[in-house]
Amino acid sequence: MDITFLGHAGFLLSESGNTIAIDPFLSGNPTAVHKPDEINCDYIALTHGHADHLGDTVALAHRNNATVIAAFELANYLADEHGVQNLEPANPGGAVHTDFGWVAFTHAFHSSSYDGRYTGMPCGLVIRMGDDTFYHCGDTGLFGDMQLYGELYKPDVAAVPIGDRFTMDARLGTRAAELIRPRIAIPIHYGTFSALASSAEGFAPAGVEVRELKPGHTIAI
Ligand code: NI
Ligand code: MN
Repeated sequence: MDITFLGHAGFLLSESGNTIAIDPFLSGNPTAVHKPDEINCDYIALTHGHADHLGDTVALAHRNNATVIAAFELANYLADEHGVQNLEPANPGGAVHTDFGWVAFTHAFHSSSYDGRYTGMPCGLVIRMGDDTFYHCGDTGLFGDMQLYGELYKPDVAAVPIGDRFTMDARLGTRAAELIRPRIAIPIHYGTFSALASSAEGFAPAGVEVRELKPGHTIAI
């Protein structure tokens, strides 16, 4: 699996010719290096409806004819207000099976709305492509069932929000990564806006390799 960090909480995952974008927030993201027109993807998976996650989803979905995988109410919002046709709605505990593998929905302790409209549960996403498993925690506080998700899904990589205020900080994110026990942890959701922590300093889970990715950077796992 090739993992490209789009900045903030966004990623592109590619494996065997399949590409999925997660939370593609590019327009208005001061750290992003990609333009929305440069993103080619078959699927878009969303953790929740906040603008810094929904991002350029509508434009990407239309231009790529991509399928959007999102919480039920968020999928309904995209259909009702933006005419997105290829939708796979889900909710925590369930999974969407695709031609590349599957996307499972986990809990996340947060909120989810767009333009005043409720957009369903905030979620984490566990994405299986080929033999690789990527757990995007979404925007969330710390919770003990992260350990259970680690045991169930055995993620190779976990993307953990550590920017404080709206999510965990580096100290709590460290505990989260130690509960999940991935091979690699990528800190996310920091350094984008002044309200967030400016660096990943202090994110140091024991027994887990930390990879700090700059926007536009790709790693192969
Ligand atoms: Ni949020
Ligand atoms: Mn956010």
